[in-house]
Amino acid sequence: MYQLIRNILFWFTPEIAHELMMDMLSASQRLGLLTRLCKPVSFAPIDVMGLTFDNPVGLAAGLDKNGECIEAFGTLGFGWIEVGTVTPRPQLGNPKPRLFRIVEREAIINRMGFNNKGVDHLVENLKKTRYQGVVGVNIGKNRVTPVEEAESDYLTCLRKVYDYADYVAVNLSSPNTPELRQLQFGDTLKSLLGALKEEQDKLAKEYDKYIPLAIKLAPDMTDDEIRDIAAQLVAYEIDGVISTNTTLERDAVQGCENANEDGGLSGAPLTDLSTQKIRILAEALNRKLPIIGVGGIMDAQSAVDKIKAGASLVQIYSGFIYRGPDLIREVSEAVVACR
Ligand SMILES: Cc1cc2nc3c(=O)[nH]c(=O)nc-3n(C[C@H](O)[C@H](O)[C@H](O)COP(=O)(O)O)c2cc1C
Repeated sequence: MYQLIRNILFWFTPEIAHELMMDMLSASQRLGLLTRLCKPVSFAPIDVMGLTFDNPVGLAAGLDKNGECIEAFGTLGFGWIEVGTVTPRPQLGNPKPRLFRIVEREAIINRMGFNNKGVDHLVENLKKTRYQGVVGVNIGKNRVTPVEEAESDYLTCLRKVYDYADYVAVNLSSPNTPELRQLQFGDTLKSLLGALKEEQDKLAKEYDKYIPLAIKLAPDMTDDEIRDIAAQLVAYEIDGVISTNTTLERDAVQGCENANEDGGLSGAPLTDLSTQKIRILAEALNRKLPIIGVGGIMDAQSAVDKIKAGASLVQIYSGFIYRGPDLIREVSEAVVACR
């Protein structure tokens, strides 16, 4: 069934196909069709970061940036949903075209640049949703905010979403916002982590609930850089880490159409790179904080490899585009079986 839908969607440009998919999902959810069409994914609860996830497979950030289809993605079988990246003010993102398929490699290149309707719009959608599972909110900075002032954008988003998110993912790793990845290193990282923890502490008292913070990292760093970051995440008592975002590497797609487009590469060519980074991270963290593994999960085995490398949960984006909702059940069953 998904093969047919995919053939139709792939006939359109990737961004139009994305919009069509979101419209179709939202309409089928409203009409009650999704529940009838989808084979259920077994309830397989797992506790991570003090939260109970319905199953170990989440929707990765970027697909539902504005939180418009949360219930529909839940009905498709995801064990939890991460919405965003959202920024304090709405922004259009980069000029189109900015999303490219490399079908023969089951890959995507994107340079969307945090196109989103702003944090206030997202919060309204979070207030309305009837989804009962875990919803993470992924936050970022506006493009016009200088990187030296990024802290204030993250804090604004954290305050605004705190009462409506089950966890907050801090995106320091999109390659499509100039200089964003610098926030992953050195004193800049320390200062940002310190400010986020201080704000989390204040908000926990104000709302009388503790919302975990997870940091999302890039795959494009050396093992030593990963070890340094891991040490800081532990020192600042961050609650979790999401590894990885898209890569700037192009080796695995050399010679393919679109391979030279600027942006982050995801899907099958990212599988091994992101698993390697998870392994290094897991060794460095020594179980002091959990890892959410993401990057090129295209089948059950690639998810199991991430769990074996040290991830506690996994997320999917490109695999969902290429393989459809059946992948959620396949991956969930395999991860549950290997735990
Ligand atoms: C079109 C597109 C948009 C994305 N937007 C975001 C985003 O806004 N925030 C974010 O943290 N990650 C974003 N990502 C990265 C994914 O969440 C994920 O980390 C990455 O694609 C690797 O997983 P995958 O190989 O399963 O796609 C985006 C990915 C794609 C393909």
